[in-house]
Amino acid sequence: MTKSLHDSVFVRACRGLPVPHPPVWFMRQAGRSLPEYRKIREGVGMLESCGRPDLVTEITLQPVRRHGVDAAILFSDIVVPLAAAGVDLDIVAGTGPVVASPIRTAADVAGLRTLEPGAVGYVDEAVRMLVPELGPIPLIGFAGAPFTLASYLIEGGPSRTYLKTKAMMYGEPDLWNALCSRLADITLAFLRVQVNAGVSAIQLFDSWAGALSEADYRRFVLPHSTRVLRGLEDAGVPRIHFGVGTAVLLEAMGEAGADVVGVDWRTPLDRATTMIGPGRAVQGNLDPAILFAPWEVVEREARRVVAEGRAAPGHVFNLGHGVMPETDPDVLTRLVELVHGG
Ligand code: CP3
Repeated sequence: MTKSLHDSVFVRACRGLPVPHPPVWFMRQAGRSLPEYRKIREGVGMLESCGRPDLVTEITLQPVRRHGVDAAILFSDIVVPLAAAGVDLDIVAGTGPVVASPIRTAADVAGLRTLEPGAVGYVDEAVRMLVPELGPIPLIGFAGAPFTLASYLIEGGPSRTYLKTKAMMYGEPDLWNALCSRLADITLAFLRVQVNAGVSAIQLFDSWAGALSEADYRRFVLPHSTRVLRGLEDAGVPRIHFGVGTAVLLEAMGEAGADVVGVDWRTPLDRATTMIGPGRAVQGNLDPAILFAPWEVVEREARRVVAEGRAAPGHVFNLGHGVMPETDPDVLTRLVELVHGG
């Protein structure tokens, strides 16, 4: 990472260093809320677009140009490394990842291959194209955490109850741990490719960990996520760890080894900071639905989030989860200006 990227508002806030204003970026800032995204994606499948460095570069840059955010996030998906490791899956519009043969047995787990860096050469290439294009704007790499990846592989697609996932976790803990251990290896390999290619930070998405109690999270999930995050200790880039509905998990997630803990909109950032403990920055946490309210409400709530974020050693402004596709992109641009002190 160059000195200017080390000194960027985003990286400094992740490290808890003084900044002139909170940095701001949005989860899912690249995506269907942008007409230029919908246009470039016409007739190109989601997985196919993730595999084309020219498209990845353009789509990643779109929200940076439009909104003036303080960080870009690589356009990809959490299931990309699974597909690259040989899992037969697709990303279905309006549904999400769908796995052709769900992983349920010891033989299924044994069949899950490791990720050879060469299998995601297109990600390496896209990052190397993006870093010079972005100049002073840091690029965030990301991956899915073992629990969230396991949930897609075991259920075969999105789930509301995680019944099959939990059945394996509780019923066959050795098989569960073997699966999560393989997923941690894949995730680490995928993040290392991105770090080696030049990303300035990484985010580990454990989007669906909020389905668990704290005790089960600590027993079945934390050791695997910790291995991923601690495995990147020497990478020299800030590590962000995020999940949805994690109010009771924040203390445990803070122990997994991230520099920044992402918080959804349900927990005020000052309270979250107390739970996460000293020395860690926070990221969040405006409710993405608030962007559909009148501007006065957006402004009031955004100022509240900024004020509550001051309780933490560092605050990266974001939404509490991803941008909804129906969001008016002009509201996002205005929100960036507001957080920047406008
Ligand atoms: O801008 C960014 O945040 C970067 C791009 C990004 C995507 N997926 C692109 C995408 C990121 C960071 C992800 C991560 C991801 N993918 C997560 C973790 C983040 C989160 O939202 O909690 C999860 C759980 C997935 C799995 C997944 N992929 C889902 C649930 C969906 C949505 C299905 C739908 O169509 O509503 C996807 C598809 C997906 N990934 C889209 C995008 C832009 C939409 C597909 C499209 O545009 O056709």
